[in-house]
Amino acid sequence: MKADVLLGLQWGDEGKGKIVDVLTPKYDYIARFQGGPNAGHTLEFNGIKHVLHTIPSGIFHDTTTNIIGNGVVIDPVILKREIDALVKMGVDVKKRLLISRRAHLILPTHSLLDKASEAAKGKEKIGSTLKGIGPTYMDKTGRNGLRVGDIESPDFKEKYNKLVAKHRELLRFHDADTDPSALEGAWFEGIETIKSLTRIDTEHFVNEALSSGKSVLAEGAQGSLLDIDFGTYPFVTSSNTMTAGACTGLGVAPRHIGNVLGIFKAYCTRVGSGPFPTELEDETGQRLRDVGREYGSTTGRPRRCGWLDIPALNYAIMINGVTELIMMKADVLSGLDTIRVCTAYKVNGVETKNFPYDICTAEIEPVYTDLPGWTEDLTGVTHAEDMPGALMEYISFIEKATGVPVSVVSVGPDRTQTLLRSAAWA
Ligand code: GDP
Ligand code: IMO
Ligand code: MG
Repeated sequence: MKADVLLGLQWGDEGKGKIVDVLTPKYDYIARFQGGPNAGHTLEFNGIKHVLHTIPSGIFHDTTTNIIGNGVVIDPVILKREIDALVKMGVDVKKRLLISRRAHLILPTHSLLDKASEAAKGKEKIGSTLKGIGPTYMDKTGRNGLRVGDIESPDFKEKYNKLVAKHRELLRFHDADTDPSALEGAWFEGIETIKSLTRIDTEHFVNEALSSGKSVLAEGAQGSLLDIDFGTYPFVTSSNTMTAGACTGLGVAPRHIGNVLGIFKAYCTRVGSGPFPTELEDETGQRLRDVGREYGSTTGRPRRCGWLDIPALNYAIMINGVTELIMMKADVLSGLDTIRVCTAYKVNGVETKNFPYDICTAEIEPVYTDLPGWTEDLTGVTHAEDMPGALMEYISFIEKATGVPVSVVSVGPDRTQTLLRSAAWA
């Protein structure tokens, strides 16, 4: 078998959690491959709304095992909190969760460093979630990091102290709070929780699963435009959020990747700083925020909102090798007379359909095509063939502009509010 990948094509929060939950019954394993608790993946079913940060979004199904891959960075405090909340809901997390011994640990001082680094940037801050993601990946690539496997080592505490001493030097340089002692009790409790979970070499496990015919869905976090290499650098996260990240974040070879499910909102949102060519800083933007309840799942910050951006979408489709598209939040557009779609950019006055390298500094003017809206409430629609004509036209427009079929349309946050357009998903 080949591993399928599901990932966000915009700036995150596309609705990955919801769709992974919907698709989980079709897979034996759901595996997170990058990011950490900067993610907030929301699931809604049976009147329950739940936000996951580190744990894969298949955890509510007892038929499927969830894997936290080597590419993920783990904050033991947040992981413990997530586990405790799930156990309270009756979920047998210990049975359903496996953790890579190669995954890196977020230390309390990583979060302090994140805060100090953002404060030092002033007006140029990234708008980080301040969960310590950047500093932890820096220690990983700097070859200083602590990994889940290290907690088995008798000198784990010494390794921890050595890294903390280094961090305190850096924090002093930033003139920041250097003392993590108030945070350490909870952190070491989290380490005990991780000790109670099954820690394995997930790269062997996943490859053996695929060889023996088991199905795997790799779950991305963030979105392609936040990718460390191809996103709107420096306003990005610190990992590869793209399909290639599933290879390095799980140890799956490129030739063992199957379908790539690219998920996007019917419009665009972004939380944090950085360029956003189709951003609407007007009533329509506020309307999208209100109707779409566009407030961050991790930080509660209001999300910036704007029209769908086809050059950005095509760029994300290209770098990920997307085989099918999943369109979210179609219901939020109901009631708009006209829906605008950006089909090209004018970059410093020159029209292009490419996503520019210098998107953070160039003068970018979106070129729009206007499409008719629809008035119908979509939240009760249960079959794709019952979608209003104007929505079908909107989808056809996107399929033509991208050359990729839209196989799923989401019309509300609940599991059941999901319209399948492809026989493969029925
Ligand atoms: P993720 O990070 O990609 O998993 O997405 P988030 O959970 O951060 O944000 C998506 C938000 O949209 C959540 O609050 C979901 O409950 C909600 N949502 C998902 N799909 C739909 C949809 O089709 N319509 C509406 N109105 N809300 C949705
Ligand atoms: P999910 O998985 C939306 C954004 C932050 C900031 C930038 C860097 O829920 O889609 P970081 O904390 O990584 O240093 O922040 O990336 N960001 C997200 N935006 N959804 C996310 O995750 C995000 N994770 C990080 O707002 O702009
Ligand atoms: Mg989110």
